[in-house]
Amino acid sequence: AVGLSSCKGKKEDENTIVIGEVASLTGGTANFGQSSHNGTQMAVDEINAAGGLLGKQISLVTEDDQSKNGEAGIVAKKLISRSKIKALLGEVSSSKSLEMAPIAQAAGVPMISPASTNAKVTEAGDYVFRICFIDPFQGTVGSIFSLSKGWKKVAILTDSKEDYSVGLSDAFRKHFSTNGGTVVAEQSYGKGDKDFKAQLTAIKGAAPDAIFASGYYNEVALIAVQARELGITVPLVGGDGWDGPSLLEVGGKAMEGCYYSNHFSNEDKSPAIQEFVKKYEAKHGTKPDAMAALGYDSAMILFDSIKRANSVEGPALRDAIAATKDYSGITGKITLDAQRNAKKPAVILTVKDGKVVYTETIAP
Ligand code: PHE
Repeated sequence: AVGLSSCKGKKEDENTIVIGEVASLTGGTANFGQSSHNGTQMAVDEINAAGGLLGKQISLVTEDDQSKNGEAGIVAKKLISRSKIKALLGEVSSSKSLEMAPIAQAAGVPMISPASTNAKVTEAGDYVFRICFIDPFQGTVGSIFSLSKGWKKVAILTDSKEDYSVGLSDAFRKHFSTNGGTVVAEQSYGKGDKDFKAQLTAIKGAAPDAIFASGYYNEVALIAVQARELGITVPLVGGDGWDGPSLLEVGGKAMEGCYYSNHFSNEDKSPAIQEFVKKYEAKHGTKPDAMAALGYDSAMILFDSIKRANSVEGPALRDAIAATKDYSGITGKITLDAQRNAKKPAVILTVKDGKVVYTETIAP
């Protein structure tokens, strides 16, 4: 464990409730883990300042999976067997949550993913929850938005090594091609790739009106830059995986006029959101992104469930999380359905003059 807040000495005693968190604090998608962790830690600090839960303080043990596939499962096991956690928070990326979910399920430790949207994540069983929408919805949102822009011919570019990207592209394709659109090219790459010229050349030849790029921010930024170098001027469209400062740091001008769906906009004028943005900015020096807000909400929903269960025993806590209804989160009203997923609207953001700005909200 190399996370800032991770502390090997933390263990259960009669004065604390130990909660585990798995996050990619370092590596390729470090932004996901750092932001979700910041949000999660903020929630823990607030609940402890308010006196804790069941007369105890919350102790958060965070493990860094280094953005590596395989590692999330290993550290989840370690949290369960060594730290004796009562619940597990994380991961952001779907492939990592898919590793953790069967482990949490087998151990009877309730798990809440703040941000993993792949449909399969919560299928691991009745101990596995998420507080965000799922990709069959998010892909539909991308398609509805593209069609509303009059884009009838779209190319799809998928990261075939990320469950998230594969599932999001599937959902987009399904809706788009049955609602008047045509997918004129399909290309893929594997995460960590740096050269996308071959795929983009093939896409250029198909003359699409837009490119649906369902991967994560690090590769998408490079894809945008290389697309512009090849003379491709059409917008790129994507999902929540674009979220993070590197998108613009690396993508720069190439991202202008591109669009992506997300869970939250920090420009939202609602007082609860602006209060959260202010608190977060005061603590971390940056505005919260979606992962930060979702990390915060996931921890707060867990705490609310512990309160309602009046217990941290597995079955009681599982049932209380499952009963979450109309919880007013920073990322919207959260009700968990019978599949342990949340139904929430998506926001569409666009890059304008070097900034990410809100454009519209699409409801389920
Ligand atoms: N939804 C993405 C996944 O499942 C993760 C993500 C969520 C990334 C929110 C950014 C913002 O892999």
